[in-house]
Amino acid sequence: MSNETNWRCRFHMLPPKGWLNDPNGLCQFQGTYHVFFQYTPEFPRQELRAWGHYASSDLLHFRFTGIALQPDSPYDRTGAFSGSACTEADTIALYYTGNVELEGEHDYTHSGRESNTLRVTTRNGIQVSEKICVLDNSNYPAGYTCHIRDPKVWKEGDTYYMVLGARRLDDSGAILLYQSQDGLHWKLFSERTSRQPFGFMWECPDLFQMDGKTFLSFCPQGIPAEPYRFQNLHQSGYLPFCLTSTEPINETVFREWDMGFDFYAPQTFQDEQGRRILIGWAGGPETTYQEPTLKQNWIHTLTLPRQITCQQGILKQMPLPEFNELRSQCQELPSGQWYRADHCFDWELELLPESEPAFSIHITEECKLSYSNGILTLQFTGKSGAGRTRRQVRCETIRTIRILADCSILECFFNDGAIVMTTRFFPEDSLLPIRADGAFQKNILWNLNTKDCICTVLEKNE
Ligand code: FRU
Repeated sequence: MSNETNWRCRFHMLPPKGWLNDPNGLCQFQGTYHVFFQYTPEFPRQELRAWGHYASSDLLHFRFTGIALQPDSPYDRTGAFSGSACTEADTIALYYTGNVELEGEHDYTHSGRESNTLRVTTRNGIQVSEKICVLDNSNYPAGYTCHIRDPKVWKEGDTYYMVLGARRLDDSGAILLYQSQDGLHWKLFSERTSRQPFGFMWECPDLFQMDGKTFLSFCPQGIPAEPYRFQNLHQSGYLPFCLTSTEPINETVFREWDMGFDFYAPQTFQDEQGRRILIGWAGGPETTYQEPTLKQNWIHTLTLPRQITCQQGILKQMPLPEFNELRSQCQELPSGQWYRADHCFDWELELLPESEPAFSIHITEECKLSYSNGILTLQFTGKSGAGRTRRQVRCETIRTIRILADCSILECFFNDGAIVMTTRFFPEDSLLPIRADGAFQKNILWNLNTKDCICTVLEKNE
């Protein structure tokens, strides 16, 4: 097996071939979990976005079932862009943006782009009803560019709500909020932007409740980098939100979901057990680093599904408890010694309570996670970061660490998921030398049984 083959993830959803970006239409319907995603199988020869579809009964094993939405109608002919799912008693309603780029001389921001909000229904993510356009450019309020997209729809009582991301004519990001009684006819009830400038465009909004509090998640584009924040080109985070207020949004309390190199466009949904689950794109738009898997004709993955909990206003993210079912043998690792690990692992560490919180963790000689003097650092040296260099977070202490490795992705959870760092990496070898230095009371490495987690082989009749 070549190194390149070894980069294909075993338990993260990835494109069967070609390009993947945002997760879309996340839901659980009659027991089955559905994960749609932005998909361009013929990338880089082609750029048109479709919706690919994975189905799962346990959130551990995912089966690709093909393309659910093709950009094949007059409403979406240059892209079936991102959107969400709203489950009904007997069907799933999918809402998404039909992107239409017109021929002619346009900048595609101020002219030349239709952003149609489309609705379809499906019961299985395979057969999908005809496309109905519920909002088009003529329905959006004045003061906006043609960048309006990524509907997230939910239902409260008898009322449907929709939030759309937007770029205003003055180059400020905003959201539009709509209401409907039937999911087809929508009425604008609120437009919200920030108090101070906070990026020129807000993509992929999401609005949900946790422990009785409402949160708005969105992806602001164009926020200047700071030493310990906003280090990626475009951001993704959340803040507390009040749906009935008309006040500008307090952007100073925005908190990033993930402080690593590769994270964007997350969506959440509530499953049938009532859990709030988040999946993100383990990638990002317009990044400067390379994606060496392109040589192998595929690019990008989704993050693992993460369970969200709320503690003192902070949303924590951890792998779902069912993920532990993949664990097989475990090994206690001595501090300060190299160990050769398989390229899929689940590593748990805990610092001694009375110890100075300082550590360094190596995953190969080229990737280091370290904490000292209140700064958490993820740093690459050498080829395997493919242009990724350093990400840093300021935090008071670190007590728990959990690192999940899957061939070419690392998801690192600190302090029970209060801080998360996701990165892609492309090691030479499929055995990874790892080492942790620090005063740990726990340092346990689990092997994972990842057989059949991700199936991208289509059955003949599909
Ligand atoms: C975010 C995004 C969305 C858009 C989609 C197109 O990554 O730009 O705003 O709907 O990707 O693939």
